[in-house]
Parts: sequence; structure tokens; C-alpha cells
Amino acid sequence: MTDLHTAEIALAVNGTEHTLSVHHHWSLLDVLRVTLGLTGAKRGCDRGECGSCTVLLDGTPVNACQVLAVRAAGREVLTVEGLAPAGELSPLQQAFLDEDGGQCGFCTPGFVMAARALLDSNQSPTDDEIREALSGNLCRCNAYGRILASVRTAAQRGAQLV
Ligand code: FES
Ligand code: FES
Repeated sequence: MTDLHTAEIALAVNGTEHTLSVHHHWSLLDVLRVTLGLTGAKRGCDRGECGSCTVLLDGTPVNACQVLAVRAAGREVLTVEGLAPAGELSPLQQAFLDEDGGQCGFCTPGFVMAARALLDSNQSPTDDEIREALSGNLCRCNAYGRILASVRTAAQRGAQLV
């Protein structure tokens, strides 16, 4: 049911198709966290500065807090939950765990998704390429060295990253 303030959209999230009634001002992050209960993408700044809400939209990393849900209509979203659909960590997530790539962990899902997008397009990134790909993500715990090591390890393992 829609009215002047809402629209019906189709959205594929982690491989599942949804038909959703969304308010025009809702962000993609609102829909993921509130409507769908997928709380992996975090609301840090809510203004496009921290990257903690990073998800992949048709394979491209975006700040979900800055994408209107209606703009995501008909597109495919991958969230951190989609990396471990059966509850088993993906190789990339395992690398973050093994390398202690998170301290408080609040920023971690965003870093993992940005890293996932990098490794999808470049399986042997240099450290500078990793830094560049993660440059939109902030970690207040200053765990950058461990995060870099996590992505480097995942790349070196050459793991199937899905
Ligand atoms: Fe989206 Fe900070 S919550 S960029
Ligand atoms: Fe705490 Fe990144 S691990 S903000």
C-alpha cells in the first residue's frame, strides 16, 4: 500500500528478492536496518563520512546512509550478512579474525565490505591499493595496521571470497 509519501520498490538483498513499501526520505541504511533487520551495516555518522554503513550496490561500495532507498529500486545489495549466509565466516572475515582486524568492531563490517569490493576486482592488491580502497572508512580505535594486515592476508590466501 503506497500513498503520496511512500513508494513500492523491489530490492534484492543478499540474493533474496523483496518488495517493500518505503518512505521517499528513507535511506537504504534505514531499510536494511529497520525494515529488514539487517543490522550488520552500522549507523556511525549518518552523513557519509565514516564508511561504517558500507554495502555493495550492484557490486560497488556505497555509503548506505547516503543512498535513498527509492534510488536502490531494482538493484542488488550485498551486506556483511550476505558473506556468511550459513553462519560460517567467509575467508575474508576469517582473515579479519585471524589478524585481529577489529577492536571494538563497530567499523568492521564497513571495512570488510570495502575490502570485498577491492578483492572482487583486484586479487593481488598492493598495500597502497588496499589503503586507497579503504580510505573512505574510519576506525576510531586506530586499528588500521591490523585492518591492512587482514586484507593483505585474505589476498595472499587467494581465498574464494564469496
Ligand atoms: Fe554512513 Fe557514516 S554512517 S558514512
Ligand atoms: Fe573500533 Fe574500528 S575497531 S572503530
